[in-house]
Amino acid sequence: MKNISVIGAGTMGNGIAHIFAQSNHKVSLIDVSEEALNKAIETISKNLDRQIKKEKITEDDKNLTISNIQPFTSIESGVQTADLVIEAATENLDLKLSIFKQIDQYAPSSAILATNTSSISITKVASVTNRPEKVIGMHFMNPVPIMKLVEVIRGYQTSDETTRITMDKSSEIGKIPVEVNDYPGFIANRILMPMINEAICSLHESVAGVEEIDTVMKLGMAHPMGPLQLADFIGLDVCLSILRVLQDGFGQPKYAPCPLLVNMVEAGHLGAKTGSGFYSWTAGTKELRVADRFK
Ligand SMILES: NC(=O)c1ccc[n+]([C@@H]2O[C@H](COP(=O)([O-])OP(=O)(O)OC[C@H]3O[C@@H](n4cnc5c(N)ncnc54)[C@H](O)[C@@H]3O)[C@@H](O)[C@H]2O)c1
Repeated sequence: MKNISVIGAGTMGNGIAHIFAQSNHKVSLIDVSEEALNKAIETISKNLDRQIKKEKITEDDKNLTISNIQPFTSIESGVQTADLVIEAATENLDLKLSIFKQIDQYAPSSAILATNTSSISITKVASVTNRPEKVIGMHFMNPVPIMKLVEVIRGYQTSDETTRITMDKSSEIGKIPVEVNDYPGFIANRILMPMINEAICSLHESVAGVEEIDTVMKLGMAHPMGPLQLADFIGLDVCLSILRVLQDGFGQPKYAPCPLLVNMVEAGHLGAKTGSGFYSWTAGTKELRVADRFK
């Protein structure tokens, strides 16, 4: 299993391409945007330079890794020889269903089809293919080259063999796979998002301020960063959309998003990517500053 196709060359796709190429796989990196493909190769190159500086790899290792990656702008040509396809395109159900129909049509019938989705049902994605037993979730964490975990998600029809091969492949590239079943939010987001939501509700109810909430969780629970800072990094729109998936999927009020989160998303205050969330984010500044509104 040496030919890997990665669909989507954004934040996650470039990291996934990087780790497979570095562990001697031939990677076809596919994106509809040529600009995204160029940017991905640039990012991978910069990340490899950082590893050279730390003397973890040599210049030759870098050249070999880059030469293992071939860019494509069409799924049809990019998945022709794939043993494993990993889809990491934009999080949108209709888009993913359409991509999976195409992969199923053009990838060899023996290929395993994985999705890196954070919240979409693996079972649903598998249902539009003719090989639901070969469809599985591979939920990598951001940044992919650094984070060890791969949440391997079994859809309702995923076979034991597909799961075993995916677990083995994840270990082979230096990750630690954990097998979970396909229910809303899987494990990572089912536990993380209610914690973030509870932190936002605590702020909304003035139980404590932004810094106080994050400090309690950092110093009291040994979390590397507080839940409000993490929410700003993930993107408040992404947090809201995952909470809606949990709320719809389980039909339980405990997953209802805090009204403050809904308001912030509607106002376009989405966290680090828009410059404003619970904190104020200015490019190049390392110091963490609580947003004026929450002072
Ligand atoms: N960013 C994270 O922290 C994170 C973590 C875990 C999982 N995920 C999941 O990974 C996936 C990708 O997220 P991201 O943050 O990398 O998104 P992103 O926006 O950075 O990248 C998505 C890429 O998909 C491309 N794309 C869109 N339609 C396409 C198509 N039809 N064919 C090929 N490429 C297409 C876009 O051009 C873009 O380059 C999502 O499913 C997301 O839920 C994200």
